[in-house]
Amino acid sequence: MYNADKKRYDNMIYNRCGKSGLKLPAVSLGLWHNFGDTGNFENMRQMCFTAFDSGITHFDLANNYGPAEGSAEINFGKILREDMFAYRDEMIISTKAGYYMWPGPYGDWGSRKYLIASLDQSLKRMGLEYVDIFYHHRPDPETPLEETMEALAQIVRSGKALYAGISNYDGPALEKAEAILRDLHVPFVINQNRYNIFDRRIEKNGLKEKAKELGKGIICFSPLEQGLLSDRYLEGIPEDSRIRTDGRFLKEDRISEDTISKVRALNEIAKKRGQTLAEMALAWILKDGYVTSVIVGASRPSQILDNVKAIENISFTEEELAEIDKISLS
Ligand SMILES: NC(=O)c1ccc[n+]([C@@H]2O[C@H](COP(=O)([O-])OP(=O)(O)OC[C@H]3O[C@@H](n4cnc5c(N)ncnc54)[C@H](OP(=O)(O)O)[C@@H]3O)[C@@H](O)[C@H]2O)c1
Repeated sequence: MYNADKKRYDNMIYNRCGKSGLKLPAVSLGLWHNFGDTGNFENMRQMCFTAFDSGITHFDLANNYGPAEGSAEINFGKILREDMFAYRDEMIISTKAGYYMWPGPYGDWGSRKYLIASLDQSLKRMGLEYVDIFYHHRPDPETPLEETMEALAQIVRSGKALYAGISNYDGPALEKAEAILRDLHVPFVINQNRYNIFDRRIEKNGLKEKAKELGKGIICFSPLEQGLLSDRYLEGIPEDSRIRTDGRFLKEDRISEDTISKVRALNEIAKKRGQTLAEMALAWILKDGYVTSVIVGASRPSQILDNVKAIENISFTEEELAEIDKISLS
């Protein structure tokens, strides 16, 4: 029987999500990979326990996480039910809808029909009455934004989610969504976007600045560029790495000589700072206070223990930042 570490809150930083009342741990755990049917259930349990024991109160899911789609929610629901339900009120559990989930016209994108049906399915899979944050997972170019946002409003009003979020929107799209949600009095608190040393899109598309201006949080996904920003691929492609075990999204052709030489140079800076490259990559995202939390993925508990150490040093000298930019943006 799992008993959470009594000191679980001592070493984590909790950042306010924009100007809302919600605080999130600086490091959150994402269940996109390694929690599906192809993963090892005991390893999943241990990762959830290690995360929670380290002060990671936030677990990020989506309807389609697996494989198969839905299986990460089922496995997480089982862990909750069997081991962690006593701690439900100490947790922030999020899920999303927006990518393909079931066949036909109602299982994808951003219609009211899809979002409401999908959240009902997610709640059943996880055995929950409500999630803490429900996201629209990606903008839908065909459904009127008003319809998607009204669906988020109804979901919150019905008590099936406490807060609303949007994911993969850019600055101008955030501004439009925020105006609608404000009119509807929806507690919209957070943007979930991709951001890391190699991927600077939110700096260019206005999202980073606009979220701050509107008082909304930002939570970043793939902060380690799916593992590239770590020591994982320094000596080739390990058999137990994401590329080999689940090459759906991180493919072997990402490991070019050019990329690995950049990773090696970044690794040298991390060493001088007394951090692993993964720790430095996470600290780099958290350095200026724009980002509420980084959502890390992990394939084993030891990676989670490494990643939470990032918060021990999130300040960088001007020289370090310039050097990181020179390496990563060249
Ligand atoms: N909203 C969206 O559209 C969206 C999209 C993608 C992801 N997400 C969310 O973001 C979460 C994180 O995404 P991600 O999994 O791509 O994140 P990531 O943190 O960039 O990559 C995770 C991978 O990096 C490796 N790793 C982690 N910690 C390490 C360490 N300390 N040392 C060495 N290697 C380490 C592991 O790879 P190995 O398996 O090789 O060990 C792990 O599976 C997802 O689970 C999901 O919740 C959201």
